Amino acid sequence: MKVCTTIADSRRALMGCNHPIGAILTMGALHEGHLALVRQARKECPTVVASIYVNPMQFDDQADLAIYPRDIQKDIRMLRDEGVDIVFTPIDSEMYPKEFGMWVEPGKVAGRLEGEHRPGHFRGVCTIVLKLFNTFHPDRSYFGQKDAQQLMVIRRMVEELALGIDIIAVPTVREHDGLALSSRNMNLSHAERQAAPVLYRALCLAKEFAMRGQGNTAHVREAMRECIAKEALATVDYVSIADAETLEELTAIDRPAVASLAVTIGTTRLIDNVLLAKAG
Ligand code: PAF
Repeated sequence: MKVCTTIADSRRALMGCNHPIGAILTMGALHEGHLALVRQARKECPTVVASIYVNPMQFDDQADLAIYPRDIQKDIRMLRDEGVDIVFTPIDSEMYPKEFGMWVEPGKVAGRLEGEHRPGHFRGVCTIVLKLFNTFHPDRSYFGQKDAQQLMVIRRMVEELALGIDIIAVPTVREHDGLALSSRNMNLSHAERQAAPVLYRALCLAKEFAMRGQGNTAHVREAMRECIAKEALATVDYVSIADAETLEELTAIDRPAVASLAVTIGTTRLIDNVLLAKAG
C-alpha cells in the first residue's frame, strides 16, 4: 500500500491503475463500518484508494474538532490489512492552501436536519469531497447509510455537477445492542456507552409504528422522544420522519420515508437513521 501525503503524489500513484477505481473517504478513527466500505470496494474494484483527513471546515464547533478521535498509524495498518492500494493522508495546508476561497454551496436538502443544526457543515463536506474526487478521479465511491443525509447531499452534488461517479450506499454496521458504529463512540464513557443504544431503540419504535400502519408522524415523533427521555444521559437534538428523497418532514408515512435523529449522550452527539416502509 502506498501512503501519499500530497495531491500530486496520489495522482502519480494512480497513474496507469486499472479501472474501476473505488474511493473511500474517511476522517480516520476507523472501525468496522469503514471496513465494510473498503471490503465492498475491494470486491468490486481492482484499484481501491482511501483518504484519511479530519476536515476542519465541516465542524461548526472548534471544541468538537479538538476532541475528534485520531489514530492515523492504526488506521494505516487497518487499511493495509484490508488490501487498500493507496491511502492519502494530507495535512490542512494541502487541502486548504493560503487564500483558499472556493466553496461548494449545497442546495435545499443540505439545509435540513444536520444542516440546520450544524450551519456550514455540508458546505465543508461537499467542498472537501469534491476536492478528494478531483484528486482520485474515482469511478465509484462508497458511503455509509448511517450518514443518510450526507449520502443524499453527495449524490445531488455528483448529479448536479455531472461528476460521473457512482455513489454506492453501504448498510449501517451496528453493535450487538443496535448502536451504529461511529468514530465518535470512542469518546463515550462506560455509562454513556450503556445509554447510547437508546437511539436505535427509538428508531425501532418508528419502524414498528410504520409497519403497523400508524401513519400519523406526530405520534411517532412523540413516542420516539418519550423513549429517549427515559434515558437520563440523553438529550434530543432532533427527531425527524421525512421524505426519503427530499428530507421534507412528513405528516403521514405515505411514501418512502426515513426516520432520523441526533441525540447527545453526555457530551457526545450521535446521529442515526432507518428507512421506513409504508404499511401494506
Ligand atoms: O463521512 C465522513 O467521514 C466525512 O464527512 C467525509 C465524507 C470523509 C468528508 O470529510
